Amino acid sequence: MSSLFEILGVSNDIQLKTFSKISGISVSKLKHYNDSKTFPSGNDLQNIIKAAGIDETELRLKLGVINNALLEVICKNAAEIHRLIGEIPNNHVNSEYEQAFKTSYGTMFQGDCLSLMDNMEKESVDLIFADPPFNLNKDYESGINDLKDETEYLAWTEQWVLKCVDLLKDGGSIFIWNLPKWNTYISSILNQYLTFRHWIAVDIKFSLPIRNKLYPSHYSLLYYVKGAKPKVFNEQRIPLENCRHCGGDIRDYGGYKDKLNINGINLTDVWYDIPPVRHSKYKNRGSNELSLKLLERVISMASNEGDLVFDPFGGSGTTYIVAEILKRKWIGVEIGDGSLIQKRFEEIDTQREYIREIQKNKNTLFTSETRKKRIKNGHWLPETLKKVSNNEQLEINLK
Ligand SMILES: C[S@@+](CC[C@H](N)C(=O)[O-])C[C@H]1O[C@@H](n2cnc3c(N)ncnc32)[C@H](O)[C@@H]1O
Repeated sequence: MSSLFEILGVSNDIQLKTFSKISGISVSKLKHYNDSKTFPSGNDLQNIIKAAGIDETELRLKLGVINNALLEVICKNAAEIHRLIGEIPNNHVNSEYEQAFKTSYGTMFQGDCLSLMDNMEKESVDLIFADPPFNLNKDYESGINDLKDETEYLAWTEQWVLKCVDLLKDGGSIFIWNLPKWNTYISSILNQYLTFRHWIAVDIKFSLPIRNKLYPSHYSLLYYVKGAKPKVFNEQRIPLENCRHCGGDIRDYGGYKDKLNINGINLTDVWYDIPPVRHSKYKNRGSNELSLKLLERVISMASNEGDLVFDPFGGSGTTYIVAEILKRKWIGVEIGDGSLIQKRFEEIDTQREYIREIQKNKNTLFTSETRKKRIKNGHWLPETLKKVSNNEQLEINLK
């Protein structure tokens, strides 16, 4: 179930104030409805559904507040509802497969992902994220060395990729993180079965400059969907780029400042803002651990609470930690020692705090830290500009 603020797309104080203005309901009242999980009534209900562009039935269903009238309609249409949602799934892996540990939302398995996938129910997964070994002669903590002959690596890659395709539900999304070279091969496999969405370039330097070649500066993140379009695509917005020191503008927005969306700018397919995992507080193992921010973005964008997320290459368990914090069900597997992942779950609260911080700093034009710098240095803020009406709040593409 979602909270009222999640349904209204309110994730920070500025968005809350804006919604309060549009709906004519005070911030404290909106907070009361959200925090106490009280379903609004009377004029407040009418104003909320009008401002949010949602109708009462949808709001009730999303909040899980079902009154007698709605219950009657649900009972009358039980067969149709069953046809739409099917069985409520609770176990997607053949029970004979060896479990390493279980959490509130997920199950971790120890073993080879190929055989785990053979034991999983087809078309049961909403979102797959895969970060396989790159075939770079690396030794993993698991004791696995990933150097294979190129043909062997590509044959193995095709095997796990096809199994992932089978596991995806219609409308489900898959993201594959790899070196650009390997992702060209993976793309040619996926193009036969799925619909291409994006080749996302994640700007991270991963090697030294090479003579007579361009300096490799991005990882590739493939994004495909089963069927024509994704079942879930939650828009993600990021803050405006600004000067790290004074918080000032890096570009001249001229007369467009008041038309910038206060919820931030559109995410593009080039991601410059994913930090390498350096901070010892959050780093759990060697160089292969991905950033929590990357997984927070992918999981928030392509799944909803309660959806099932699968990652065939556990590593230090970044995908599973984020899925758990974001209340997604998950299935994990690691061929090596999974105790590292279990230990990471024992310390999940620190990571929860970090995810909260990431979420505070997205879907807003300026982070709170940038706002402070801009106030101190006299730079404009949305509220200091001449106001435009809601209808006029068009977006401009900054690129
Ligand atoms: C690049 S790392 C994944 C890192 C992970 N995304 C993270 O953020 O921690 C790849 C992992 O896949 C594991 N692995 C390799 N082959 C596997 C297989 N056949 N089945 C399951 N895990 C495998 C390796 O032991 C390694 O831990």
